Amino acid sequence: MRDTHFDVLIVGSGAAGLSLALQLPETLSIGLLSKSDLNSGSTSWAQGGMAAVLHERDTIESHVADTLQAGAGLCHEDAVTFTVEQSRSVVDWLVAQGVDFDLRNDQPDDEFREFHLTMEGGHSIRRILHAADQTGSAISKALNARITERPNVKILTDRCVVDLIVTNGETTGAYVLNTSNGVVETMGARAIALATGGASKAYLYTSNPDGATGDGIALAWRAGCRVANLEFNQFHPTCLYHPKARTFLLTEALRGEGATLHLPSGERFMPRFDHRAELAPRDIVARAIDHEMKRLGLECVYLDITHKSSAQIEEHFPTVKARCAELGLDIAQERIPVVPAAHYTCGGVVVDQYGATDVQGLYVIGETACTGLHGANRMASNSLLECFVYASSAAQHMSNNLPDIVPGRLPTWDDSRVRMSDEAVVIQHSWHALRRLMWDYVGIERTNRRLKRAANHISVLEQEVDEYYASFTITKELLELRNLTLVSKLMIDSARSRKESRGLHFNSDYPSMLSEGRDTVLVPKNGKSTSTELPKYR
Ligand code: FAD
Ligand code: SIN
Repeated sequence: MRDTHFDVLIVGSGAAGLSLALQLPETLSIGLLSKSDLNSGSTSWAQGGMAAVLHERDTIESHVADTLQAGAGLCHEDAVTFTVEQSRSVVDWLVAQGVDFDLRNDQPDDEFREFHLTMEGGHSIRRILHAADQTGSAISKALNARITERPNVKILTDRCVVDLIVTNGETTGAYVLNTSNGVVETMGARAIALATGGASKAYLYTSNPDGATGDGIALAWRAGCRVANLEFNQFHPTCLYHPKARTFLLTEALRGEGATLHLPSGERFMPRFDHRAELAPRDIVARAIDHEMKRLGLECVYLDITHKSSAQIEEHFPTVKARCAELGLDIAQERIPVVPAAHYTCGGVVVDQYGATDVQGLYVIGETACTGLHGANRMASNSLLECFVYASSAAQHMSNNLPDIVPGRLPTWDDSRVRMSDEAVVIQHSWHALRRLMWDYVGIERTNRRLKRAANHISVLEQEVDEYYASFTITKELLELRNLTLVSKLMIDSARSRKESRGLHFNSDYPSMLSEGRDTVLVPKNGKSTSTELPKYR
């Protein structure tokens, strides 16, 4: 089969990948890949909204200060300032693409109606721009419409990248499994961007779609990139608990609009843990819920929004209301059973302010990257903003730095020594074992002993998955399992090297926080933690 060549290959069609494709010059040929359809990532599931400095009493300094505070001493102030300063231009760009954010309904006749802003944990002012509780879907819809108008962008769905091709230290292409026919295609590119989302599928319970398997982190690591701060996986405090339903997010904006958390007895418990109560940053709320559930042996706690009328709930939270109603819950009348679930990967591939990595020609943006913005705990609704800010800076950098030379003929995929699997049960078993292991031993509260156990188990799993990969024809499930096993191992290694509790990482053998915060940076050559710092912004 002949190689396919692009100027730029973008892996991922979420907020980061789509906005990069739309901001690159139309003179460039672009391949845009997605593992299944265009909406397969977390972006279209985003509920709460996007943080931006728009309120008349808000300031860039205040948004920066709140982000630094939530990040527990590990945010890089240059990255935070760089991101926040661009929030207004990101909003302008999104509106120009056709995203309909909600407007204030108390100014119906005003020619210049302002955006309706909601509140979320860690923010000291209303700062969250949203489209009811379907912000991600509104963004995806608008960007999908724009991208199909671009003749220079070839959209390739049902394509799963297997590995990157690196020639003399530069990325020159990728092997891509076409999941509709099982063929592995070779795609060449002058630059590649990984925008593959996060790795929260490592955990048994997650708010994320099935494809959140850390592929980009694994691909970049195998290509030679450093990764950082992978011990900080965020657990969203309030996901619907229902024995018959998959985990479903109950947006933090519910708490922003006054919803409170209760024990089965009715006691409101968050004020015992933090003066900001339900609007404390997520690490604090998730840990408090976990603590109360373990202390009292509970299956869940309860979120109460019954102070709002049914009409108000319908207006701001139609998705949450409808999903709960499907399960027989009227949230205007009843409390909602909730548990925390894995939600966001704060660490990722080390990048600079343009999304550039350690490997020439390889960029990483969106949830896959570690830009320094989130530190030890991401503040709510800062991630969509990060996707757009770094997609824009990567677009500029790429267009100015594309190598002149188009890669020549690339090595073809060799599957002559593998055969069809006759024991797919191994994959199912390993998937379950991995996610259970991460949930039980590398969850909200960690101990040295649990982490050691996790490290032992993961090395056995890794060996089994590698043997399977070397013997059998690849499938999407196998590729995802291979990637997620590797990323989980990196998460465990990162957690073991942090000898303190900070932000989302709580180890009861080291309950306090060290006076100086340091990033955990892993280097692929030896897999060891080093004191290497994240890049400084210019
Ligand atoms: P994604 O949107 O996850 O897209 C990943 C893309 O990569 C997909 O197209 C996928 O198919 C593709 N891909 C992955 N691996 C491969 C591969 N190997 N080969 C080919 N393609 C691949 N953040 C906020 O700021 N505000 C919110 O209100 C908010 N709400 C959220 C609600 C939920 C339920 C969830 C799950 C997350 C929420 N987040 C929110 C987080 C935010 O949505 C994500 O961090 C963000 O959308 C990630 O965008 P992305 O472009 O990096 O990746
Ligand atoms: C939510 O709506 O609670 C999710 C917001 C986020 O993850 O930033």
